[in-house]
Amino acid sequence: MRKPVIAGNWKMYKLLSEAVDTAVALKPLVANANHCEVIIAPVFTALKTVADRVEGSNIKVASQNCAAQNDFGAHTGEIAPVMIKDAGCSHAIIGHSERRQFYGDTDESVNKKAHAAIAAGLVAIVCVGEHLSERESGNANSVVAGQLNTGLAGLTVADMERIIIAYEPVWAIGTGKTATPEQAQEMHSHIRQTVAASHGNEVADAVRILYGGSVKPDNIATLMSQPDVDGALVGGASLEADSFASIVNYK
Ligand code: PGA
Repeated sequence: MRKPVIAGNWKMYKLLSEAVDTAVALKPLVANANHCEVIIAPVFTALKTVADRVEGSNIKVASQNCAAQNDFGAHTGEIAPVMIKDAGCSHAIIGHSERRQFYGDTDESVNKKAHAAIAAGLVAIVCVGEHLSERESGNANSVVAGQLNTGLAGLTVADMERIIIAYEPVWAIGTGKTATPEQAQEMHSHIRQTVAASHGNEVADAVRILYGGSVKPDNIATLMSQPDVDGALVGGASLEADSFASIVNYK
């Protein structure tokens, strides 16, 4: 059985005090959510404080990016996965489409970051997803397969236990346009087949595949009813404790 994961990506929102307030408000609201893993991803400057404040609860903390290496050195502005772990995080989001579009992440850098995150003992939430034009031209499946084959290259079967995949069609992020449950299921099944081809059936059966893109309290249940949808990566609707909690408590 794959344990569902509901992760909130706070993007570049919230000052430190606001991040703490949201995390603290969330704690009692999701305290009984034993059916899934609950993760929040604040900005880097809030990670340590938020991680301290949710310690002992069922809320885990993720970074929204990480460096591609763990060796200390001349990498101005970068933050190593070991440092993210040291700040109290258990997960790192890698290759979010905003980073691919605007901050230079490529399938190759995603791969390096995934290796580095796993080496540091983090779980890597690797994001993939096609642009609207790629979907419209019928290339969504090959684009996503390419992102996976390069992004997960060289990871062993054991490494794959520390990988979560997030499928986020770029056209659905922050647009209010969700993939239909059928579109999500179709792509998630394709993703699982792609992982089966690269890492074997057992890995493919075990890997959690999250859907992301305009997930809201009123569409989470139908998305989760799809057999290959194992959770959600939530942006906008994760910023308020109440709405994120109702997504977590979709059951
Ligand atoms: P959204 O963002 O839920 O606001 O569409 C999802 C994401 O970018 O992870």
